[in-house]
Formats: sequence, structure tokens, C-alpha cells
Amino acid sequence: MSDPLDVAAIKKDFPILEREVHGGRLIYLDSANTSQKPRVVLDAMQRYYEQSNANVHRGTYLIAEEATAALEGARAKVSRFIGAANPREVVFTKNATEALNLVAKAWGRANLRAGDAVVLTELEHHANIVPWHQLHDELGIELRWIPITRNGHVDLTDLDRLVDGAKVVSFAAMSNVLGTLLPVERLVTAAHDAGAIAVIDASQFVPHVATDVQAWGADFAAFTGHKMCGPTGIGVLWGTAEILDATPPFLTGGEMILNVTKEGFTTNELPWKFEAGTPPIAEAVGLGAAVDYLNGLGMAAVREHEVSLTAYALRSLKERFGDALTIHGPCEPAERGGVLSFSYGDLHPHDLTQVFDEHGVCVRAGHHCAKPLMRELGVAATARASLYVYNDEADVDALADAIDAADAFFSP
Ligand SMILES: Cc1ncc(COP(=O)(O)O)c(C=O)c1O
Repeated sequence: MSDPLDVAAIKKDFPILEREVHGGRLIYLDSANTSQKPRVVLDAMQRYYEQSNANVHRGTYLIAEEATAALEGARAKVSRFIGAANPREVVFTKNATEALNLVAKAWGRANLRAGDAVVLTELEHHANIVPWHQLHDELGIELRWIPITRNGHVDLTDLDRLVDGAKVVSFAAMSNVLGTLLPVERLVTAAHDAGAIAVIDASQFVPHVATDVQAWGADFAAFTGHKMCGPTGIGVLWGTAEILDATPPFLTGGEMILNVTKEGFTTNELPWKFEAGTPPIAEAVGLGAAVDYLNGLGMAAVREHEVSLTAYALRSLKERFGDALTIHGPCEPAERGGVLSFSYGDLHPHDLTQVFDEHGVCVRAGHHCAKPLMRELGVAATARASLYVYNDEADVDALADAIDAADAFFSP
């Protein structure tokens, strides 16, 4: 099957991929951690700073109006990209972590009481665990956990009992460790049937799969710009206008204010009600350019490319290393994203990735901010190679060669 993406051309869009490291080409396999940035994103941010830099929503002069239009234009692009009903439902945050904290701290503190249950899955990133732990400590809420099966899916056998009487069901759309695609609609329906709100951590999903938040039918979704070809320093909280309107502000001051007196304050309209202080303007411009770039590739093609490259990786790595290599998570490419967490023999993941680095292969080792999942998998850490639009079979082969090199280096 021919690749729906012209990866050779795409590689040329990313200046960093021209870099040499340790005398060879840079083989970047850590996009689940952060993606690389195409020149169009870097240029858009540079152009903004060189031509239109000013604070937003305040100035009455030309470049301030341009800056405001750039920020709000980026919001409209993001809104269309995720199928939101209205840009008012798109709140810019610092990252996905801040977006999830906003849900827990602003909505949660206003709506949860001692004994209320919040349902999570065992494969969550710490960003979707720790804010709820804090509410457990602060308010006495109960945390319930949807378990995972041996092949890395969520185990829905007990779902009805777990969501019964719950107030929140919060889960990742795609696992950052196992690549597992979760049954989003099924979980959202279960949450709503039980009278709970549904919160989706879409950090690993939005960069890789066409997203339609209205089709999901959830209440909130969070994701982060830097994993989708955009800059660091900007994330998104999407929420229905209804729930955002009913949620008190999180951080306060600056743009989220309508009026302040010595007695109190009133809040601005959506989405600014949740955007305290000067927003990440250049970062929004960069994110808007990233959205344009991904739209140019076509999200259906992005997904198709990743499914076929993941299939190649699963097949070729298994053929080459057999039982010495354990790739965690679903073995069916259609049920997962291009995140390959693996263990090799009894080599420590950090030792593996140190040798990989000598071969220019960038792979993350560690617990990937998912310690409860690590415990369920029975490992302290994994090595994680993750694929994106600029990766091809040669990159996967380079990873395999690097595994061989590590094996040779550490063999007695
Ligand atoms: C599933 C998931 N959720 C949340 C996050 C947090 O993203 P950020 O660090 O940009 O807030 C990550 C990033 O690693 C992630 O993979």
C-alpha cells in the first residue's frame, strides 16, 4: 500500500531534521513527548513578533488590532479543527496539564462534595490523576479506577458498577504509553447515563486522528499544542458553552475580568473568562499555523500513515527480535496510535536509550508520567518510540539497528 503522506517532502518541512547528531542524521522518535515544528510554524511566530507584536484586546492602534485578530483567528482555526460548535468553547491554556487542572479545580471545587466519585482509568497520565488526588485530599472525593486488560485495553466488564452514582468520568482518548485508542463514545454515554460529566484528555489523540468533539458528546476535552507541530506554552480546554458558562473562573486577573470594584468583580464572557493575564499570543499564532499545516496534510492521511507505519514497526521489530522484545499495548494497529513502549530482555530502558542516542535515535525512557499504569504492567519504566508525520520505515529500521547495537554493547 502506498503511503498517503509524502514523508520525504514532509521531512524537508522540519528544519531540525536536517541536523546531524553524533555524526549522523537525527532520527526523532519521541513525538508523543513533543513533536518537531515545521518551518511554517516557526515563520508564523517570527512574522508575528516582527510585524504585529502588541498586547491583545486592549489597543486601539493598528498592530494591536492585528495581534487581537491573530489570536482570535487562531482560536477559530482550532475550533474548526476539533469540530467545536463555536470558538467561544475554545479556551487557551498553558498546556493540557493546566486545562485538566482547570476542570478539576474550577468545575470540581464548585460541584464536588465529600463522597462524590470520580472515575479514571488505570492508563491515565499524571496530569489527569493528580488534580483529582488533590480534590480527594481537599474535599474527600472518592477515586474509582477502570482497570486495563492484559493487552492494554480498558476493561469495561464492570463499567456500569464503576460509573454508578459517579459525578465525573475522566479518561484519555489515546494512551501516551500503550497507544491504546479508548472507546470514547461508549465511555461518554456511560458517564452521561450515570449522571456524570465526561472529561477527555485528548493530548495524544488530537495530533494524530481527526477529532470531532461534538460527535464525542463530552463536556470537556483537553489537549496541548506542542504535540501537534505547534509551540510549547499553549494548550486548549474545550468545553460546551453550557458547562463553561456554569464553571467559575480558575485563575483571575487581566482579561478574565469584566468589572472590578472595591467590593468584588464580575467575569468576562467566554472564552476570556478563563484566560487570566496576557495570553500566549505568539504561541496561538504558531498553533494556528500548525493546524493549517496538519489540515494541509489531511488528518485522514495522517492517521492512515501512522496505522501503516505502526503495522510495519510491530511486524518488523517482532520479526527481528522475537521474544527478546516486548511491545506493550494492543497488537492490532487499527486499535492504537504510533506509540511503541517496549522492554528488551533485561536491559534497563535508560541504558537502551543511551546507546540509541549514540546512533542519533531519540527515544524516551522512563515512566512517561503514568506510574499507576507502570505498576499494572509490572515494570518500573519502558523505552518509548513514538511516530509522527515525518517518520518512515527507514526511521523504524534505524531504531531496530540501535536495539542491535545496545544488545551488542551490553552482551557479556
Ligand atoms: C495523555 C497525556 N495527557 C497529558 C499530557 C500533558 O501534556 P502537557 O505536558 O503539555 O501539559 C501528556 C503529555 O505528555 C499526555 O501524553
